[in-house]
Amino acid sequence: MFAALKPQDPDKILALMGEFRADTRQGKIDLGVGVYKDPTGLTPVMRAVKAAERRIWETETTKSYTALSGEPAYLDAMSRMVLADTLAADRTAMLSTVGGTGAIRQAFELARMGNPDVTVHVSDPTWPNHVSMLRFMGLPFVEYRYFDAETRGVDFDGMLADLGRAKKGDLILLHGCCHNPTGANLTAEQWAAVADLLDRSGAVPLIDLAYQGFGDGLEEDAAGTRLIVSRAPDAMVAASCSKNFGIYRERTGILLTQVADGSARDLAQGAMAYLGRQTYSFPPDHGARVVQTILDDADLKADWMAELESVRRTMLDLRQQLAGELRDLTGTDRFDFIARHRGMFSRLGATPEQVQRIKDEAAIYIVGDSRLNIAGLNEQTVPVLARAIVDAGV
Ligand code: LMR
Repeated sequence: MFAALKPQDPDKILALMGEFRADTRQGKIDLGVGVYKDPTGLTPVMRAVKAAERRIWETETTKSYTALSGEPAYLDAMSRMVLADTLAADRTAMLSTVGGTGAIRQAFELARMGNPDVTVHVSDPTWPNHVSMLRFMGLPFVEYRYFDAETRGVDFDGMLADLGRAKKGDLILLHGCCHNPTGANLTAEQWAAVADLLDRSGAVPLIDLAYQGFGDGLEEDAAGTRLIVSRAPDAMVAASCSKNFGIYRERTGILLTQVADGSARDLAQGAMAYLGRQTYSFPPDHGARVVQTILDDADLKADWMAELESVRRTMLDLRQQLAGELRDLTGTDRFDFIARHRGMFSRLGATPEQVQRIKDEAAIYIVGDSRLNIAGLNEQTVPVLARAIVDAGV
């Protein structure tokens, strides 16, 4: 039965989590997995989440199944949060998913069902699990240039040139904000140019929106996504609630599929519900119910937005502090890109050897491609990291 099983390549982010746990050194610093930590190192349950959970506990009368595509009130609240007035409800199918990853996976499945010849275009680099899922599914994919190793910004000319190869019906995976792993993001003008390119090619965007509220603000971070969805006839958005609601382990996300012609909406909805049924049947409900309770209650929503905003500002302050420390230590502004990047991550542009040295000599864990999780820092550890970066010769 199990004779054909082979060891799997470890996921480098999850492997690093294990290595960190096993390290017995005092003062070790985890800048690996993308989890927000407050200055004391805790990933807190947000106030509004606690309040919503209490309310749900008091009022919930049944744990019977909800709808196969997920609780309609959750789908409604989340789709409005993500797309606001660009939501074309009569052309949009919605699925409550097992986290943002579940939404991405179902989007890949739906793309293949809709177009068996689909090629997926992914940024180079992208979140490693994007590529891993595509490989596992046997879906053809190509990379488009994204990161300029020199400026640590977006290589937009390269990106446009490579995406120019996309054919009608191909899928183009874009990061809606807070690009993972680089932290380098498109400007409003660049989003508009991507929309023009999609117009010309007929390729379909799939936007991975895992960090709404972590970059420039809740509305600002959705602006690129909204622009693309308002312009592209067919479009998919995979949004996660893991980070912005801090409910990582509840596995809460949504897949939104906009179809060009409203008459195809039911087909898309049916296909998405079918995909859910074939994978795990009904989606989990607790996280979705928490999110919906918060979004539909003015006081809870205001409190959640205030806490999210303070999380965002904490990360921006840490970016400023780190860039400043590195300016002082090196006497140059070559690390100023850290302050320009947005979201949890920045790609430092260090070599694997330098990343290893930082780990060996300073017990600081960053992903091998030199992605560091800014949210894993605090005021005290920023100078330690800056010194380690310089000592490693980055
Ligand atoms: C990350 O990139 O670190 C997060 O999205 C967590 C994960 O599952 O990899």
